[in-house]
Amino acid sequence: MSVSDKNKLLEKMQERVNLIFKDTDCGAILAKGLSMKPDDIINMVTDSGLRGRGGAGFPTGIKWRGAASASGNKKYVICNADEGEPGTFKDRRILDEQSDKVITGMAICAYAVGASEGYIYLRGEYNFLKDKLQSNCDRWNKIFNSKGINFSVNVRSGSGAYVCGEETALIESMEGNRGEPRNKPPFPVGAGYMNEPTVVNNVETLAYVATIIEKGADYFKSIGTKDSMGGKVFSVSGDCSVKGVYELPLGMTIEEFVNIFGDGDTKAVQVGGASGVCVPRKNFATTVIGFEGVPTGGSMMLFNSSRSMYHVLKNFLEFFEEESCGQCTPCRVGCQQLLKGIEAIRAGEKPMSYLDELRKLAATMSVASKCGLGQSVASPFNSITEHFREEICY
Ligand SMILES: Cc1cc2nc3c(=O)[nH]c(=O)nc-3n(C[C@H](O)[C@H](O)[C@H](O)COP(=O)(O)O)c2cc1C
Ligand code: SF4
Repeated sequence: MSVSDKNKLLEKMQERVNLIFKDTDCGAILAKGLSMKPDDIINMVTDSGLRGRGGAGFPTGIKWRGAASASGNKKYVICNADEGEPGTFKDRRILDEQSDKVITGMAICAYAVGASEGYIYLRGEYNFLKDKLQSNCDRWNKIFNSKGINFSVNVRSGSGAYVCGEETALIESMEGNRGEPRNKPPFPVGAGYMNEPTVVNNVETLAYVATIIEKGADYFKSIGTKDSMGGKVFSVSGDCSVKGVYELPLGMTIEEFVNIFGDGDTKAVQVGGASGVCVPRKNFATTVIGFEGVPTGGSMMLFNSSRSMYHVLKNFLEFFEEESCGQCTPCRVGCQQLLKGIEAIRAGEKPMSYLDELRKLAATMSVASKCGLGQSVASPFNSITEHFREEICY
C-alpha cells in the first residue's frame, strides 16, 4: 500500500477520535463539570465505559466511586506520568501538548471524590518537562484559588525506576520511601498516599475525563466496541512505515493496524510493551486491540523479518531483571533464571525441551509474584516462545 493510501486509511480511522490532541476550552469543561453533582460526574464517567489507559484497564468510574465512598482526613488525586513501559511515549506528548486537559481531568476527579490535593508523578527521564508542567499547574492553581475551588496540583519527580509506575510503589516513592509495591488490599482508593483515600489514574485516562465531560458519555461510548469504548492513544515504533503517537478507536484488528503502520513485512507485533503479548502474523486478522483481545497501555512495537525474536525476548528479560525491585523471590529469581535459561539454550548448554520448564516457571511467576511486574513477565515470554520457538535456538 502506498504512503498516501495509508494516510487516507489513517485519516478515516481517526475521523471521530480526534479528542485528545484537539485544543478545547478547558475552563468551560471545568465549569461544566463543577456545575454537576459529584455523584452525577461519577455516573457519567461510569456510563462512558472509560477504563484506565495505564495498562490494567480498571473501570475509572468504579475506582472513583470507591474513593468517593472512602472516609479519610484528606483525599488525593495522583496522575501517573511515570510512563516507563518500553515502547510507550504517548503520555509525554499528551503532557507536552495537552496538560490543560490532564489538569482539568484531575480537578474534576477531585471534585467528584472529594479530594483537595493533586500530584503529577513525572517520570525522572521526563524532567525536561517539569518546569513547563509546574508553571501550568501554578497557573491553574491561581484559577482554582480565584474561583474558590478547594484543589491544588503540583509536580513530583520520579527517579527513573520502572516499578514506580506501579501505583503503590509510586505512592511509596512519593512518601520518600524506597519505591517498592505494597501488598494489596488495601487499595489506594481506601488507603493510598499518606494512608488516605487516593485515586491514581493514568495521564490519558484523566485527559479523556475532560473530553467525556465536554462531549458526553454517549459520544465516547459510540467509539470503539462494547468491551473497549472510546479512543486510545498509541505509541507506534519499530519497523514501521510511519512511527509516532496516534489516537485511534479501540477495537481495530492487528491486521488493520499493520496495514496502516507496517512496512509490508511485519512478522510480529508486541502489544502493550515489554510486559505485553507478542502477536504473530498468522493471528493478525483475528486479534482485536482492546480489552476483549489484546489490551495495551499504548505501546505497539512492530517487528519485521529482519529481527530475531530471540534478541527481542532477551532484551525484554534484561529489562525485567534490571527493573525487578527484588522484594519477592518469584520475580527476583525468576527474571534471572528466564534470562539465563534462554541464553543457555541458545549456547547449546541446555536442550530445547528446557524451554518448557522455563514456560512453567513464567506461569508460576504470573501467580506467585507480588506485583504486576513479575506477574506479567509470562506474557511476552510465553507468547514469544510459543510463536517463535524455532528462533530461540539456531
Ligand atoms: C511495573 C508496573 C509499571 C506500571 N507503570 C505505569 C505507568 O507508567 N503509567 C501508568 O499509568 N500506569 C502504570 N502501571 C499501572 C498502575 O499500577 C495503575 O494501574 C494505573 O496508574 C492506574 O491508572 P488507570 O486506571 O488510569 O490506568 C504500572 C503497573 C506496573 C505493575
Ligand atoms: S513482582 Fe518484582 S517488582 Fe513486583 S514486588 Fe515482586 S520483586 Fe518487586
